[in-house]
Amino acid sequence: MIRVWLVLLMALSNLLFSSAAVGLENSTVPEFINIGVLYSFNTSVGRIVKIAVETAVDDINSDSTILGKTKLTLSFQEDSKYRGFLSIAEALQLMATHTVAIIGPQTSTTAHVISHIANELHVPLLSFSATDPTLSSLQFPFFIRTAFNDIFQMTAIADMVSHYGWREVIVVYGDDDHGRNGIGALADKLAERRCKISFKAPMTPDAKREEITDILVQVALAESRVIVLHTSTSWGPKVLSVAKSLGMMQNGYVWIATTFLTSYIDIDSPLSSDEMDNIQGVITLRMYIPDSKLKRSFVSRWTNLTRGKEGNGSLGLSTYGIFAYDTVYVLARALDTFLKQGNQITFSHDPKISELRGDSLHLDAVKIFNEGNLLCKSIYAVNMTGVTGPFRYTPDGNLANPAYEIINVIGSGTRRIGYWSNYSGLSVVPPETLYSKPPNRSYENQKLLTVFWPGETTQTPRGWVFPSNGKLLRIGVPKRVSYREFVSQVQSTDMFKGFCIDVFLSAVNLLPYAVPYKFVPYGDGQSNPSNTELVRLITAGVFDAAVGDITITTERTKMVDFTQPYTESGLVVVASVKKTDSNAWAFLTPFTPMMWTVTAIFFLLVGAVVWILEHRLNDDFRGPPKKQVATILW
Ligand SMILES: *[C@@H]1O[C@H](CO)[C@@H](O)[C@H](O)[C@H]1NC(C)=O
Ligand SMILES: *[C@@H]1O[C@H](CO)[C@@H](O)[C@H](O)[C@H]1NC(C)=O
Ligand SMILES: *[C@@H]1O[C@H](CO)[C@@H](O)[C@H](O)[C@H]1NC(C)=O
Ligand SMILES: *[C@@H]1O[C@H](CO)[C@@H](O)[C@H](O)[C@H]1NC(C)=O
Ligand SMILES: *[C@@H]1O[C@H](CO)[C@@H](O)[C@H](O)[C@H]1NC(C)=O
Ligand SMILES: *[C@@H]1O[C@H](CO)[C@@H](O)[C@H](O)[C@H]1NC(C)=O
Ligand SMILES: *[C@@H]1O[C@H](CO)[C@@H](O)[C@H](O)[C@H]1NC(C)=O
Repeated sequence: MIRVWLVLLMALSNLLFSSAAVGLENSTVPEFINIGVLYSFNTSVGRIVKIAVETAVDDINSDSTILGKTKLTLSFQEDSKYRGFLSIAEALQLMATHTVAIIGPQTSTTAHVISHIANELHVPLLSFSATDPTLSSLQFPFFIRTAFNDIFQMTAIADMVSHYGWREVIVVYGDDDHGRNGIGALADKLAERRCKISFKAPMTPDAKREEITDILVQVALAESRVIVLHTSTSWGPKVLSVAKSLGMMQNGYVWIATTFLTSYIDIDSPLSSDEMDNIQGVITLRMYIPDSKLKRSFVSRWTNLTRGKEGNGSLGLSTYGIFAYDTVYVLARALDTFLKQGNQITFSHDPKISELRGDSLHLDAVKIFNEGNLLCKSIYAVNMTGVTGPFRYTPDGNLANPAYEIINVIGSGTRRIGYWSNYSGLSVVPPETLYSKPPNRSYENQKLLTVFWPGETTQTPRGWVFPSNGKLLRIGVPKRVSYREFVSQVQSTDMFKGFCIDVFLSAVNLLPYAVPYKFVPYGDGQSNPSNTELVRLITAGVFDAAVGDITITTERTKMVDFTQPYTESGLVVVASVKKTDSNAWAFLTPFTPMMWTVTAIFFLLVGAVVWILEHRLNDDFRGPPKKQVATILW
């Protein structure tokens, strides 16, 4: 009973509290709306984002068509240790300032952690740099991505891998939510194209040079030469520089780096010639922003915007800066609709936090944003044209028409070799020109310009080598005594020769990947070994395969799979040879004597009938009986 009262009392007090919170507001629009920005401002991307967000807020506040008299204010919170527990504390601190939404965080790892807080307090998180695909899950309804989901970037990479005819790739990634989940998406997309990841090389998220070296040495020993690098801007370039020092930037290697490399190049440009040397021939991607008047004017403003803020030259503009700017606009437009619909912005105590009795952490300060759900809805309904181009969401919560530029690092700069769009795959023309045509993903339509691969070659690397650490396939070969032209051991060596071996070697050379093998002789060399026994040893695990003049029999096909037969024996019937006597009358044998007699009788009968019918009318059938008999016979 007491418990029931307690619950009732608590419910009542909550009601009082929340109604009090609502009561503070009236139907007039608020004067200020507070937005939180949780970001690591002390990183190269963070510096750009800060400038872009501040610029956007200034622009919106001076534009009376958005949000009318209401002004946006920003609460910045440095996400200094942008991983784990401290981020939680920082997010809570920000939410205590009654923010209606939070822009950020920078990394997918932090996004995973603080999305739980956003869920509890109904505060939307808008991030343009946490691109981990799994953040789009239903688990995080308050996480809204204002840039492209990595699943599209991974699709683009898988499309490139299959476009160049490679079958296996190696992935090098930071072993955190961002790296792992991105690579998971890549594995799915490769599987759809019958390719696969042959080796995964995870690294601690801020790996030291020694660790990178150890891991890259293992990568160099593997068979595949196509390496996908999915890390963060802060240490990704270090991996490439170690790779260069290990000689892994040479002819034969393919390096595909995800968007981290373009933001490194864009922000820190121009890079020193040493830094450029480390990344020659690398292929990378950049989120595609179509050319427009808005974009051009923003780019030309950028130098002015950065001047003075850093005091130290200008910062290059990365796509993150443009997406950050648009994110604020999206939020402002959503708030505009939200307020025009007559919604209020109210906060109330979280009853679940109040239940934590003896709240020594003072979590009471954080409150639930009551209309968070409505704000999320109006963000997803935004349909505007921003600096990043047309901006709207598809029903699955992704930005419509994601596209990437494909960049080849060459010389002292970069060269765009094409585009990838979700709409039409790889193309050399900008994606927006394709949207008016029906999507065409046919193989002939997928094009990219010539690439300068590592080692300054334009010839597409075949993508694999014979590995030095691979397990050898054990191929059983019968030590034949007879018919040695099919297969036989070369005298006093462990090599084999013969027709079957030649066929096997030619087939292996045609494969698009390496098959390391060794021949293992089978048999004592005194007599021909039993082929059935050789085949049985494959099932027993002694051999992995067998090569030889092994006849395909029903019994053997039950044990192993055979290749197509490559020597034609044909189907023949074999019978014992018997001497038959033959004479001049042999032509009579097809019919029996009875048959011959009947034939002769009919022959005469027909002659007689013809004679009976003809001899009264036809002069030829007259004359002496001897002549008439001759006529009948004739
Ligand atoms: C709305 O509330 C403000 C103070 O929060 C007050 O000054 C104003 O008179 C109120 N307006 C109405 C219409 O109640
Ligand atoms: C920014 O980071 C550098 C190291 O990367 C550090 O030395 C510096 O103190 C940091 N600055 C601030 C303001 O946190
Ligand atoms: C940059 O700033 C200068 C003066 O500070 C101004 O004259 C110029 O028009 C600005 N350029 C742009 C593109 O805003
Ligand atoms: C730029 O940074 C360097 C050190 O990184 C410093 O010595 C220099 O004074 C700075 N320049 C300006 C204009 O702040
Ligand atoms: C978005 O707005 C454009 C015009 O600005 C319109 O043509 C388009 O249909 C709208 N899209 C949606 C999904 O409402
Ligand atoms: C991407 O393409 C697929 C199939 O072509 C389509 O189903 C999906 O809606 C597209 N996604 C976006 C965000 O445009
Ligand atoms: C796709 O493009 C190829 C070559 O560009 C063309 O031959 C083919 O007809 C196109 N298919 C469709 C359905 O438009």
